[in-house]
Amino acid sequence: MCTGILVYFSGLFLASVELDKQARGLEAQAFDLIQETAREAVSRIERGSVNSLDGWLRVRLAREAGWSVRVVDTQGTALAAAGPDSEGEPLNRLLPAGEGLLVGSLNNNRLLEGGQRIQGTLATLGSVQVRSRLSRPVWISSLPGIACVCSLISFLLVWGWLAFLLRGVKGIEAVLDGVVREEFWRRAHETGAEEIRILARRVNEAMESLTDGAVRVRQVYLETALALTRTVEAKDRYTSGHSQRVARYAVEMGEMLGFDEKRLETLRLGALLHDIGKVAVPDSVLLKPGPLDEEEFELMKRHPMAGDKVLSAIPGLRDVADVARSHHEKWDGSGYPLQVAGDAIPLEGRIVAIADAYDAMVTKRSYKKAMPLNQALVILEKDSGSHFDPSLVQIFVSMKRNGKGYRALSADSATEKSRASSGSNPELNESAR
Ligand SMILES: [Fe+2]
Repeated sequence: MCTGILVYFSGLFLASVELDKQARGLEAQAFDLIQETAREAVSRIERGSVNSLDGWLRVRLAREAGWSVRVVDTQGTALAAAGPDSEGEPLNRLLPAGEGLLVGSLNNNRLLEGGQRIQGTLATLGSVQVRSRLSRPVWISSLPGIACVCSLISFLLVWGWLAFLLRGVKGIEAVLDGVVREEFWRRAHETGAEEIRILARRVNEAMESLTDGAVRVRQVYLETALALTRTVEAKDRYTSGHSQRVARYAVEMGEMLGFDEKRLETLRLGALLHDIGKVAVPDSVLLKPGPLDEEEFELMKRHPMAGDKVLSAIPGLRDVADVARSHHEKWDGSGYPLQVAGDAIPLEGRIVAIADAYDAMVTKRSYKKAMPLNQALVILEKDSGSHFDPSLVQIFVSMKRNGKGYRALSADSATEKSRASSGSNPELNESAR
C-alpha cells in the first residue's frame, strides 16, 4: 500500500516536472505572441479599427496551432479573441512556469498562460492574454493503475516474506509445545531470517540434549519398574515369566489389529508392567497357595490403581499406566477398580485382560494345575461379552486355534475342541489375580 502511494505521488511529481519543461520550451514563443498582439492591438485601437483585430488574430494563429489569444479592454470586455481556449474562464493554476507565465488546467486540458497590459500613448487600453495547450504525458492516466499493481506486488512480497519468517517462528513454537506434551523428538525448521535461523538451531541443540537426558531418565525409570515386576514374580516360582508371556500374547494381538510401532511398544510395556502394583500387596496375600478370602481379595484388588500410580509418575508412560489400571476391568462393567465398561476400557487394557487370563489358565500355579489350551479358549469364549471384549476374544481364539503365535493349538489338539469342557469357570477370577 505504502509503495503504491509512493509511486502515485512520485508520478505526479514527475508529471509536473514534465509540464514545466514543456512550458519553458514555449516561453519565447509566448512572449513573441504577446508582444506582437499587444502592438497590433494598440495600433488598431488608436486608429479606431479594433474590429479588424479578430481577423488579424485568426491569420496570425493559423501559423501556430495550439495557441489561443484574447484581448480585453480595461473593463474586461473582450475586444478580440481567437483559438480553442480563448474564453475568459480563469485557469485552475498548477505551477508557475517562468516569469509572467504559469501552467494551469481548464476543462481537463493542461495550458500554459501568459498576459500583459496594453499601454497606449496616453493610457492603459486593456490587456492581452495568450494560452497554449500542453501535451499531457500518456503515462499519467495510467498512474492509478500502476500504483495499484505496485501495491499488490509489494503486498505479495511482504506477505511472502512474513510467511517465510513465521514458518521459522511456528517451528520453534511447535518444539516448545512438544516439550509440554513430552514429545521431545520435535525439531524446528532452521529457516527464515538469520536471527530466526540461529534461534531455531539453538532450540534444536537444546532439544537434542534434553532428549538425551529424557531418554536416559525414562530408561532408568523403566529398568527400575521392570526390576520391580520381576521381583514380585520372583517371590512365587509359579508366576515367574508371567509378564513376559502376557506381553507376547498382547503384542501378537496388537499386530493382528494393525498397531503401529509406537502403539505396539506401549502395549508391550503395559503388558510387562501390568501387575507392578502388586508390590503394594502383602506377601501373605500374594503368595497364598489357596483361594483368597473376601478381605484378602480386597487387598489384591488394589494393585491396578497402585500400578497406575507408580507408572504415571514416569515421564511418557501415561498410556502404559492406563493399561495397568484397566487390565482387571470387565466388558460388562463388573470389574475393578473403576468398574468401567465396553469401549470406555482402554483397548490395550482389554487386550492385556485376555492375555493375562489365558496365561493364568494355561500355566500351573501353587493353587491349581495348568489347564489344557483348548479348554482355556472355550472359557474365554464363554466369558466373551461379559468379562472380555467379544471382538478381541474372537481374534485371539481364532489365532490360537489356527496354530498362530505363542502357545497356539497344534493340529492334533485342535481336534479335541469338541471334547473340551464348556462348564463354568470358577478358577478364572482367582487365576487371573
Ligand atoms: Fe493383575
